Amino acid sequence: MSGVLVFAFLLFELLAIATVSVSFSNGSSYHVGCLESERRALLRFKQDLQDPSNRLASWIGYEDCCAWAGVVCDNVTGHIVELNLRNPFTYCDLSQSKANPRSMLVGKVNPSLLDLKHLSYLDLSYNDFQGVQIPRFICSMGNLRYLNLSYTQFVGMIPPQLGNLSNLQYLDLSWNFLYVENLWWLPGLSFLKDLDLSYVNLSKASDWLRVTNTLPSLVKLRLSRCQLHHLPPLAIANFSTLTTLDLLYNQFDNSFVPNWVFGLIQLVFLDLRRNNFQGPIPEGLQNLTSLKHLLLDSNRFNSSIPNWLYRFNRLESLGVSNNSLQGRVIRSMASLCNLRSVMLSCVKLSQEISEIFDIFSGCVSSGLEILVLRGSSVSGHLTYKLGQFKNLYYLDLSNNSIVGPIPFSLGHLSTLQFIDLSYNELNGMNDNWIPPFQLATLGLRHCHLGSRFPSWLHSQKHLNYLDLSYSGITGSIPNIFWSSASQIYVLDLSFNQIHGQIPNLTNAAQLEVLSLGSNSFSGALPLISSNLIELDFSNNSISGSIFHFICYRAHELKKLQFLYLRGNFLQGELTDCWMNYQNLMILDLSNNKFTGNLPISLGSLISLQSLHLRKNNLSGTIHSLKNCTALLTLDVGENEFVENIPTWIGERFSRMVVLILRSNKFHSLLPKGLCDLAFLQIVDLADNNLSGEVPRCIHNLRAMVTLNSHAGKAIQYQFLLYASRAPSTAMLLEDALVVMKGRAAEYKCILNLVRIIDFSKNNFSGKIPLEVTNLKALQSFNLSNNFFTGRIPESIGAMRSLESIDFSLNQLSGEIPQSMSSLTYLNHLNLSNNNLTGKIPSSTQLQSFDASSYAGNDLCGAPLPRNCSEHVSTPEDENGDEDELDYWLYVSIALGFMGGFWCLIGPLLASRRWRYKYYNFLDRVGDRIVFVNIRTDW
Ligand SMILES: *[C@@H]1O[C@H](CO)[C@@H](O)[C@H](O)[C@H]1NC(C)=O
Ligand SMILES: *[C@@H]1O[C@H](CO)[C@@H](O)[C@H](O)[C@H]1NC(C)=O
Ligand SMILES: *[C@@H]1O[C@H](CO)[C@@H](O)[C@H](O)[C@H]1NC(C)=O
Ligand SMILES: *[C@@H]1O[C@H](CO)[C@@H](O)[C@H](O)[C@H]1NC(C)=O
Ligand SMILES: *[C@@H]1O[C@H](CO)[C@@H](O)[C@H](O)[C@H]1NC(C)=O
Ligand SMILES: *[C@@H]1O[C@H](CO)[C@@H](O)[C@H](O)[C@H]1NC(C)=O
Repeated sequence: MSGVLVFAFLLFELLAIATVSVSFSNGSSYHVGCLESERRALLRFKQDLQDPSNRLASWIGYEDCCAWAGVVCDNVTGHIVELNLRNPFTYCDLSQSKANPRSMLVGKVNPSLLDLKHLSYLDLSYNDFQGVQIPRFICSMGNLRYLNLSYTQFVGMIPPQLGNLSNLQYLDLSWNFLYVENLWWLPGLSFLKDLDLSYVNLSKASDWLRVTNTLPSLVKLRLSRCQLHHLPPLAIANFSTLTTLDLLYNQFDNSFVPNWVFGLIQLVFLDLRRNNFQGPIPEGLQNLTSLKHLLLDSNRFNSSIPNWLYRFNRLESLGVSNNSLQGRVIRSMASLCNLRSVMLSCVKLSQEISEIFDIFSGCVSSGLEILVLRGSSVSGHLTYKLGQFKNLYYLDLSNNSIVGPIPFSLGHLSTLQFIDLSYNELNGMNDNWIPPFQLATLGLRHCHLGSRFPSWLHSQKHLNYLDLSYSGITGSIPNIFWSSASQIYVLDLSFNQIHGQIPNLTNAAQLEVLSLGSNSFSGALPLISSNLIELDFSNNSISGSIFHFICYRAHELKKLQFLYLRGNFLQGELTDCWMNYQNLMILDLSNNKFTGNLPISLGSLISLQSLHLRKNNLSGTIHSLKNCTALLTLDVGENEFVENIPTWIGERFSRMVVLILRSNKFHSLLPKGLCDLAFLQIVDLADNNLSGEVPRCIHNLRAMVTLNSHAGKAIQYQFLLYASRAPSTAMLLEDALVVMKGRAAEYKCILNLVRIIDFSKNNFSGKIPLEVTNLKALQSFNLSNNFFTGRIPESIGAMRSLESIDFSLNQLSGEIPQSMSSLTYLNHLNLSNNNLTGKIPSSTQLQSFDASSYAGNDLCGAPLPRNCSEHVSTPEDENGDEDELDYWLYVSIALGFMGGFWCLIGPLLASRRWRYKYYNFLDRVGDRIVFVNIRTDW
């Protein structure tokens, strides 16, 4: 928005100047034509760019370059003054816009631009300059008044020399991967009116507020997602001219909004979403009556909706979702005639939906475009008044207790593009209905609108996001739907009982995400287009080979990043056609009937982060995976692999977080390389034929040593990509997550993933190496069913995080170490069937286990019935006082996996859809670890 205004302004200036000089020099308008040197500069610039959609088709040969796309020359001098190469094909969700990759210019920025000496306007936004630094030469383009490098994939430090561009009025570097050491250079831009550094890491720029406050002309300041951790006070706010202040998502450590903000009385746009602010919505805001956009969502404000809001008669958008607000939509809001967007997700309204419709049905009704009442405790019936909101294009009433039929008046809303009515008790959508609107997005997850596939969907020609998951649909999908669905980007029909064969989808070129998981689809795998990014067919009854599916157009590069085929009846070999799946990040083929060796071409999966082959009949070795060095998760459990654990494992899988080789025929010794897996958090080698001693280097498993390791970052990255690829529906959905995260945030990132070692059911022997006690973050330790001898390490009590120990069925001897009594989180213990002797040390903890935990030894003392005849002296037992446990720590360790994961990825996930994916992922990783005791009401 801001860009457009300034752009328009500049353009106006240019036009004015040009017109004047033209009429001065010659009565009729004439055309100078472009300068040869500048034409060549443009051609050199073009040379370094790939242009798949041919946006620069006009940039050829000896034509007048002033007529080329995106080029504007001065009418008098012929100099190029403006270069606008913004990728025009962007699409918006409400929180941000995204570029269409197909129309990006890709490559590098050729310094030939320096030859455009009169350039005052440069817009390269939404293209892909492939992760290089912002080229220095831009800092010498001293005539620039407008510079837009947003969404261009630049990385690294913002060159402070940008401060030389003293004529800049507009600077947008947002949505790259940039950082600054400080902002000392900023005051050099003394004409700056509009500054957008969103997503730049400003965490080191503690001077940010002081510096921006010195810019005399500043009107718009956007610093969202900048990792600013403190919002300082200001003695004098010079910003009195500020009309836009965007501080979205900085997670300030301030509890309260500082007073200077309330003095910005010209503010039109104020975005303080996602910042941890607490207390009532500040009274000070009531002076900012010029506000058109007031966005306070996702903080911890805890008042009711303030009644002074009705004075904001210019208000267009109001966002207070996801706080701890309650109250009602009050009558006086009926006077906010300019309202276009009302976001009240998770405000406890305890109000009937009909009353809210009544309030807004006056002057608000015709202007209202966005109404979001997700999870707002709204009840009652939808009334015909819904039909009055004629300009509504975004309606989210999901997660409420709205009952009864969907009124016919929905049919009056011809501009609706987004409907989400998921999770209510609505019913009755007439099957023969032909609605007047053309939806872009339809979410009816968990709505039971009838068991047939809704046939009115055929009328929706622009639908690009359709979620009918969990909606009780049975039967098959009419063919006409498939053939009319060519616009769809995202189709989620998962968790229904749809049957039939999936047709070939080679013509669905737009389709990027297709989720048909957990239905009853049968027949063979269909052929798919190479443009699909995510495909989920898991848990159906699809059978046959994957040969045709994987090998279709084998020479074509596939965009596929996520492929889930688990839980079907697929059989045969994995086929050797993986050469063009370099983009694949997650591959799940588990629970099928695949046989044979791993094909060599699996080694082409250089982006693969997560590979799940569990529960098949695959055999041979895992050598084909040697080149898959991006792997974070490998699960080949329950197959027939026969080999040594490869020695290269530590070197090649250096980022591995989860390694599951369970129930195969891996044999011989553990390679020392295993200890090099510094990020390893879950290692499950159970039920193989491994032998020899556990290597002492095991204490090198760094991620198991400290709770606060960075290991989870790798997984976080996986999801970051995941989320960024998603054509996410809306920020609103994103924010729904924050509520969940609200709790996770209490736990901060002290915990991330769970840590597990399972070596059970092998032929390991020798002593348990003392070094294991260095693994202070380990939570579950299973050595059962081996041939371990010697004593339990005396210092086992140092493994403070242990929740589960199973050493049963070994030949451990000696006494149970006294230190074990200090394992306060221990809630599962099995030492049975060893050769342990003496008294069970006393502590609340150790006595709380069942006698069977100690059976088959020569032990005495509680909980065993056998008294110790001989008194073994023990230090006074510490009487683990549960009250003294930090409650949160207790809860969160019990939560372990969940809490940690949320705090890592919660904010990254863009929608419910991805949240669900995340659950799925948990399920995948966590299959075996349905772990311990999720005993809260999480
Ligand atoms: C230059 O002249 C053309 C043709 O008369 C006109 O369309 C254009 O707006 C002018 N451009 C500027 C920058 O004045
Ligand atoms: C204006 O330009 C035209 C075409 O270049 C030329 O023929 C004419 O003489 C010029 N008029 C004046 C007043 O310079
Ligand atoms: C609001 O404005 C009134 C009148 O201009 C002023 O007296 C008051 O101090 C202001 N309140 C805040 C919190 O700035
Ligand atoms: C998909 O195409 C293949 C190859 O043309 C064909 O053998 C198969 O029957 C088709 N599947 C369906 C469901 O039409
Ligand atoms: C692994 O990479 C090496 C070196 O790039 C290459 O020679 C080899 O063929 C690759 N192996 C597989 C299985 O792709
Ligand atoms: C069990 O311990 C006793 C005494 O320490 C020893 O004599 C015996 O050989 C041990 N048995 C096994 C199976 O290790």
